Amino acid sequence: MKLSSIILAAGKGTRMYSSLPKVLHRVCGLPIIHYVVDMANNIGAEVPVVVTGHGADQVKDFLGDRVKYASQTEQLGTGHAVLCAQDSMNSVDGLILVTPGDMPLFTEQTLKKLVELQVANSGPMSMLTVISEDSHGFGRIIRDTDESVLAIVEEAQATPDQLLIKELNVGAYCFKAVWLWNALKKIKLSPKGEYYLTDLVEIAVNEGLKVAAFVVPDLDETLGINTRIHLAEAETIMRRRILRSLMLSGVTIINPESTYIESSVKIGQDTIIQPNTFLRGKTQIGTGCEIGPNTIITDCQVGNRVKILAAVMDKAIVEDDVDMGPFVRLRKGAHLGQHVHMGNFGEVKDSYLGEGTKMGHFSYIGNATIGKDVNIGAGTITCNYDGEHKHPTVIGDNVFIGSDTMLVAPLNIGQNAHTGAGAVVIHDVEPGDTVVGVPAKPLRKKE
Ligand code: UD1
Ligand code: CA
Repeated sequence: MKLSSIILAAGKGTRMYSSLPKVLHRVCGLPIIHYVVDMANNIGAEVPVVVTGHGADQVKDFLGDRVKYASQTEQLGTGHAVLCAQDSMNSVDGLILVTPGDMPLFTEQTLKKLVELQVANSGPMSMLTVISEDSHGFGRIIRDTDESVLAIVEEAQATPDQLLIKELNVGAYCFKAVWLWNALKKIKLSPKGEYYLTDLVEIAVNEGLKVAAFVVPDLDETLGINTRIHLAEAETIMRRRILRSLMLSGVTIINPESTYIESSVKIGQDTIIQPNTFLRGKTQIGTGCEIGPNTIITDCQVGNRVKILAAVMDKAIVEDDVDMGPFVRLRKGAHLGQHVHMGNFGEVKDSYLGEGTKMGHFSYIGNATIGKDVNIGAGTITCNYDGEHKHPTVIGDNVFIGSDTMLVAPLNIGQNAHTGAGAVVIHDVEPGDTVVGVPAKPLRKKE
C-alpha cells in the first residue's frame, strides 16, 4: 500500500516566546522537525510534505530538499493545514500519515502500528490516543458503550463531563487518501474560527464508517512541545534514549545523568564515557576509547583506543592510540596522527601532527605540518600570524624543538634538526642542524 506523509508545522508556537519557529528549537542537538521528518522516512513513507507558515523560510533553510513543502499563509486550523498540502501530494490514493511537527518522540514502532491499524481498518481513518491525568489542551476521545470511537471533542467545546475524560487525542492520524480529500471539505468552521482536523472523526462516524484508535502505552512518546518546559522534558527523554541505545550497543557510560550525547554521534564498542562529557554533531568515536571526564567534542573523528581527558575539540581528526590531556584544545583542522601524545595546555589548529609526535606541555601549533616522532618542547609556539596573514610551518621527522621555541612562520625545519631552549627561529633550518638564540643561528653544521 502506498504511504504518503504530511507534517503540520505552520503554527506559530506562541508559547515558546521565540523568534525561532517552534519546530527549529533543538532537542539533543537537532531541530524538533528533524526527528519528525526522519520518522516519516524510516517507516517508508514517500518524501513528506511539510506544511509551513510561520517562519517558513527558516524551516525550508534547515530541511532543504529532504522534503516537499506546502504553505498555509493563514493559520485556519489543523484541518485547513492538511487541505493546504493536497496540491503538493504525489498520489491521490493509498494512505496518508498526518503527524504534528512538534512531536519529536514518537517511536518508529508506534507510527508503524498506526499505519498497520489503518491497513486493517475497513473505515477511512485511524489515530493515536493516550491516557493521561494531565489532559490540559488536548482533545478528548468520546467512545460509545461498545468502545468504538465516536468523536474527538476539543477542550474549548467540551462539556464539564467530557472534560473529565482521560483518553486524549495525540494528533497523529492515518487516512485513506481518497476519503480524506473529500471529507476535509465537509469540516465546518469552529466557534474559534478554525477548521479542526479532529472533526473528521465525527464525519466518518456519521457516514457509518469505522474510526480505529491505538492507545500509545508510553506517555513520553506523545509529548508535544508547546513551551520551553516541554522542550527540556523532551531533551531529557531523548537523551536517556540515546544513552540507553549506546549502552545496549556496548558503550560504557559511567554516569548517564551527567553525560550529553547528541543523536547524530556514533561510538564504537568498549569505549568508556566518563562523566560530564558532551559529544555533539557529527562526532564519531572508535572502539576501546576512554573519553572524559570533562570533555566537549563537536564534529570530530576519533579513532580506536584513544584517551581524551578534559579536552575541548571541534572539527578535528584524532587517529588511533592517541593520548590527550588533561586540558587540551583542538580546533578546526587539527589532525593528530597515530600514537600522538598531547599533554596539558596544548592548542592545535589547522595542523597535522605525524605519528608518535609528542607535545607535552603549554604549546600552540597553528597552520603547521609536523612529521613523525617530533618532540615539541614545553612552551613552543608557532607564530603563524603576522597581523594580516596566516603562514605555514613545516617540521620534518624526528625534529627536536627545545622548550619555549618561537617558530616564526613561514618556516621550514628539516628532519632531525634541533632548536635550543628559548630560540626565536626566523630562518629555515637545514636538516640535522641545531639552531639557538634570538634570532636563532646554527650552532654547528652537520658533518
Ligand atoms: C491538536 C488537536 C487536539 C490534540 C492536540 C495534541 C486539533 C483541532 N486539535 O490541538 O485534539 O489533542 O493537537 O497536541 O487538531 N498547525 C498548522 N496550521 C494550523 C494549526 C496548526 O500547521 O492552522 C500545526 C501546528 O504547527 C502543530 C499542529 O498543527 O504542529 C497541531 O496544532 P496545535 O495548534 O498545536 O493544535 P492543538 O491545539 O494542540
Ligand atoms: Ca499542540
